[in-house]
Amino acid sequence: MVGAAHSRRGPIRALGYVGLRSVDPAAWIPFAAESMGMQALAGPVADSVRLRVDERAFRYLIVKADQPALDVLGFDVGDDAGLARIARSLEAAGKAVAASSPEQRALRAVDGLIATTDAEGNRVEFFHGLADAAEAFSPGRPIGGFRVGPLGPGHAVLLVRDFAAQSRFYREVLGCGVSDFHAEPFPAEFLHVNERHHTVGLIGTDGVPGVHHLMCEYAHLDDLGRAYDIALRNPDSIGVSLGRHLNDHVTSFYLRAPDGFLIELGWAGRLIDPASWVPEALASPSLWGHVRHWLPAERRARAEAMTRAMGDAGVRAPVHVTRSGAFEWPPDS
Ligand SMILES: [Fe+2]
Repeated sequence: MVGAAHSRRGPIRALGYVGLRSVDPAAWIPFAAESMGMQALAGPVADSVRLRVDERAFRYLIVKADQPALDVLGFDVGDDAGLARIARSLEAAGKAVAASSPEQRALRAVDGLIATTDAEGNRVEFFHGLADAAEAFSPGRPIGGFRVGPLGPGHAVLLVRDFAAQSRFYREVLGCGVSDFHAEPFPAEFLHVNERHHTVGLIGTDGVPGVHHLMCEYAHLDDLGRAYDIALRNPDSIGVSLGRHLNDHVTSFYLRAPDGFLIELGWAGRLIDPASWVPEALASPSLWGHVRHWLPAERRARAEAMTRAMGDAGVRAPVHVTRSGAFEWPPDS
């Protein structure tokens, strides 16, 4: 099932990296290392920080800015043919496509790079050849690694004002497939580009568009539990309590990162077969837990009622554990 190229609707193979703007990038170094177990490194330019979760040079790039914001989503399109294909798709949709300079490619540690903006002005890059770092991945504390590989480093969920336009961009221009969606307690759509249940999510908002959360997936449940232990020392750092999603079956909680960003730390997301997947309407965002402190009180109560209804109906989902699956890191732990 995994790696079935024929099932891909567009040239995007995976999320490759995410850039965030921060008022204080240096604050991310102890946070990422101690709270999440990532490898946090200053650079590659002044006032920036790169975070590693696997062998690649970086997966998250934190840059200095006056206001916190999403800086860029970077999608791996595999090769030059993938770049050409996505460029044709963007141009056919009337989107401007920016070429890259050698300096820009060096900054991203990639061989090929083009950029555009999505329907709400977020910068979106397409690349191939994200380099490995010279040194092996060295986690910030003794964790058993993150699940990345061909699935990419987790997912990014965006807050969107014009839901229809943004959904069209990611589905029709970029070729993402719909995994599932719900209208309550907030409008949301979850999109896949590979066997990861969703790589991009869209959540409707009347407020400011941007990033709602980023998800990173641990290889081991105990590492998620320990991250929760650390977060519990400062309960205000928990943006969403421990719980389990109905759609991707991820067990997770959401941490408040520097600048107010939410980072979902998860475990055991299920894989889907994009070739045969049929989009579903979701009866609830979560099976249990996940008290959403970010939601206004009325919607939070609605979310909690929907979650309770899952329990009243006795809904359960399988746990997808692999002892030495191809996507676990390190492979045989
Ligand atoms: Fe998520």
